[in-house]
Amino acid sequence: MKASAVGKIILFGEHAVVYGRAALAVPVTQMRAQVEVLPSSRPGIWIDAPDVKVSAELNTLPSDHPLAALIHNLFFALAVDPFPDLSIHITSSIPVASGLGSGAAVSVALTRALCGALARPLTDEQVSSYAFEIEKLHHGTPSGIDNAVITYDRPIYYVKDRPIEMLRVAEPFTIVIGYTGIPAPTRDAVAAVRRLWEAQPDEWNVVFDGMQTLSQLAREAMESGRWRHLGPLMNENHALLQRLTVSSPELERLIAASREAGALGAKLSGGGRGGNMIALAPGNGPQAVADALDAAGAARVIITEVRQQD
Ligand code: PMV
Repeated sequence: MKASAVGKIILFGEHAVVYGRAALAVPVTQMRAQVEVLPSSRPGIWIDAPDVKVSAELNTLPSDHPLAALIHNLFFALAVDPFPDLSIHITSSIPVASGLGSGAAVSVALTRALCGALARPLTDEQVSSYAFEIEKLHHGTPSGIDNAVITYDRPIYYVKDRPIEMLRVAEPFTIVIGYTGIPAPTRDAVAAVRRLWEAQPDEWNVVFDGMQTLSQLAREAMESGRWRHLGPLMNENHALLQRLTVSSPELERLIAASREAGALGAKLSGGGRGGNMIALAPGNGPQAVADALDAAGAARVIITEVRQQD
């Protein structure tokens, strides 16, 4: 039984989404985590995940290891007893710890492959909630946006603890993703923002409200085909993220380079302090922006089209 799941980027509203404000996220379909589950002749559940250097039997992994925790949670919830003998092979083309959702994608693909192997289908909502439990191990206090966009594999408008709304993309547009090459633990950036917010909640609530307004305006722009309007909104969102202290010199260098090369707007994406930035490609195409990011030292450049699926 095989299953796969896409990567993702956050277009608007990271950090504010942790505080109940709206955020927009889209799948990145050219990268995937893939999981194959097969019956095994060896007793036990054997996990082979070369990208994260895991090759072990389930019970030899610490119980809070994300892969072990996911399998235990799922089998417990589905009352699987005794555990079947399985061989699980996990690969991923999504760079690890780079803000592209690699952890959530593995969780979603693994959940679906195991349920397929057990012939116990789950709803998308259930898959997303199993993946969310594992996001907590990765990130501490995640908003749930990563597992949601990856499970549904659609552009989403996301507010924590509310039903997920799918975004309509009236006209496709192109985003260029530049990876700084600096792995940035989301957990640390989220904790730093929490310290700021706890010290001066009124001040930072105004910033989060500003981000919420930008997410709403961005949704209107996407749904009415005025995607060029996203550029200035991205720039404004980035300015608020700078105030939150989650940018970095490397992100700033890539963002400046993309704007100089004609990007209609650019911002950091995800937790920040490293990780990724994104730029909105102009109507004549993404290549000049991608080349400028390469020249400015991006460790990886990915061009992705955001479009309506189905
Ligand atoms: O670093 P990423 O791409 O996983 O994004 C984190 C987004 C935050 O809003 C900073 C945290 C969250 O859980 O939503």
